[in-house]
This record gives sequence, C-alpha cells and structure tokens, in this order.
Amino acid sequence: MVQLFHSVSSLRAQVSKSKADGEKIALVPTMGALHEGHLSLMRLAQEKADRVMVSIFVNPTQFGEGEDFEAYPRDLEVDRALLKEVGVDWLYVPTVKEMYPHGFATTVSVAEHLTNRLCGVHRPGHFAGVCTVVAKLLLQSQPDIAIFGEKDYQQLQIIRRMVEDLDVPVQIIGAAIQREEDGLAMSSRNVYLSAEERQLAPLLYRLLQRAASELSPRACHGVLSRGAEAAARTPSFDGVTLLELCQSIERELLESGFDSVDYVEAVDPNSLKPVSELNQPARLLVAAKLGNTRLIDNIALEPIS
Ligand code: PAF
Repeated sequence: MVQLFHSVSSLRAQVSKSKADGEKIALVPTMGALHEGHLSLMRLAQEKADRVMVSIFVNPTQFGEGEDFEAYPRDLEVDRALLKEVGVDWLYVPTVKEMYPHGFATTVSVAEHLTNRLCGVHRPGHFAGVCTVVAKLLLQSQPDIAIFGEKDYQQLQIIRRMVEDLDVPVQIIGAAIQREEDGLAMSSRNVYLSAEERQLAPLLYRLLQRAASELSPRACHGVLSRGAEAAARTPSFDGVTLLELCQSIERELLESGFDSVDYVEAVDPNSLKPVSELNQPARLLVAAKLGNTRLIDNIALEPIS
C-alpha cells in the first residue's frame, strides 16, 4: 500500500522514524500525470534507497501567465494506482495552502546566468518557482537523495547549483530521458498533441541524434539504432560549425511544420554557458512548439578527438 501524506508534520514524523531505523530515503518530486518517464525515476530511487517517497504538487508559481496551470493534467487516482504498481512507499500531496500559507513571502532564485537563458527567456519567473518549491519539498521531506529527469536538463543543473549553494544535505541524481518507441521524449504534456502533431514531434530527437552522431559518434552509442533509419532520412550536417548546426536544426524544424523554435543551443553540461567548439563535453538543448505544446529535449555531445 502507498501511504498518503498531506501535511509536512505527518510526513516528517514518518521520515524521522525511518531514518532512526537506519533507512535511506529517496524523494522523486513530480507534478503528477505520471508516465513511464516518472516511473523510471521511481525504479531508480528503489535501487538507491530503502524507502521511496513521491511528491505530487502542481506548483502554481512555476507557471507563467497564459501557461497551462489550469489545464495541466491531474488524476490522483490513476497516479496512485501507478505508484502502487511500482511499489512506492509514500506519497506526499501537499495542498497549495500547506505549501504557500497566508503571508508566504520568500522566493529562492538562482543567478540569472543560469535561469534567465534557454527556457528562462521564454518562461520568465519559471525557475524561481521551481527552485522555491523544490527547496521547500527537500526541507519538508528531508530525503537522503532526490531524483530528477534529464529531460528538464536546465532545471536539473539549476537544482544542483541551488542545493550546493544552500548546503542542502541531499544528493541530487539525474536520470536518463525515457522515450517513446519513435524517440519522442516522454512528457506529461505530450497528451496535448493532436494526431498530426504527434507524428511530427519525434523529429526533434531525430535531429538531435543526427547532430550528435555527426559531431561525436561516441555520444550515440546505444541510441542510434532506435532512430537510425529515420535519422538517415534527415539532411546531413557534414562540415558545419556548432552554430551553423544549431541554425540548421532550427530551420529544419520550422520547414517541417513546427510552429516556432525557442532555442537550439550547445552548452557546457554543468555551467550551461554556450559553447562554440566541441573541445569538451557539451549538451545540445532544444525547445520548440507544435501548436500550443512546447516540447523540450536534449542530447550529450562528446568532444571531437
Ligand atoms: O519537473 C517537474 O515536474 C517540476 O518542475 C518539479 C521538479 C516537480 C517542481 O515542481
């Protein structure tokens, strides 16, 4: 049975008891609408800890004006059934009032060089909302480890920075992106895609894969096979600079029917600073819109030796 907690005090009492018994605790923070991507984080948590708790909280402060806070998919009963199947121990579902009580006046914000670029340019205030709620979730539940998916790569690096800077006693673990058969990164927002958009969506990953294989063959070990046939149909990036490569991915997305491209950028995997040469490991990040649905994805680039 998955034990349900609504209040900080009840959750903390349980965590303290388990810690006193010598158990290692993992937290997987989520906004619900759970899919296989989330479940893979929970399975990883089970490998690394004795107890796994999952939080479900659709955090209003990380949604901007005109974003999908109201429409964000919510189905607690379906989520609970999935958690039971996976064998998660505890589910923490705080209310908005518990998280942001009357008079709440604190924001945790990480420096602009990390938060006001890439997704931060297009979602002002988003990362302050994320950092504030994640800091609260970590302080409320006091886990030994917390697991976040690499799909939200900028989020993961910002959380790592925040935890290190604030001396939060938790180990942050990043988990590999889970993908549909056709390569589309799993996301709760994929349900927004129309049938036609859904067919087009995997192009995002095919172009990333193609770029990674052109630039750094080693980066594609184990991922080329799944999208190789489709990737072979996309144009070659032979002999171009990183910047030209990013521009060509953007052009290809727009020509293929994506409505807009927020960014295609190669960055340092830790600092998220833009890189123009592949003389060190890098991460290629992309965000693009199909209709009203914003898709993000990324891939590792290994240095050219
Ligand atoms: O990645 C998410 O689902 C959210 O941003 C998180 C980390 C649960 C914070 O609300």
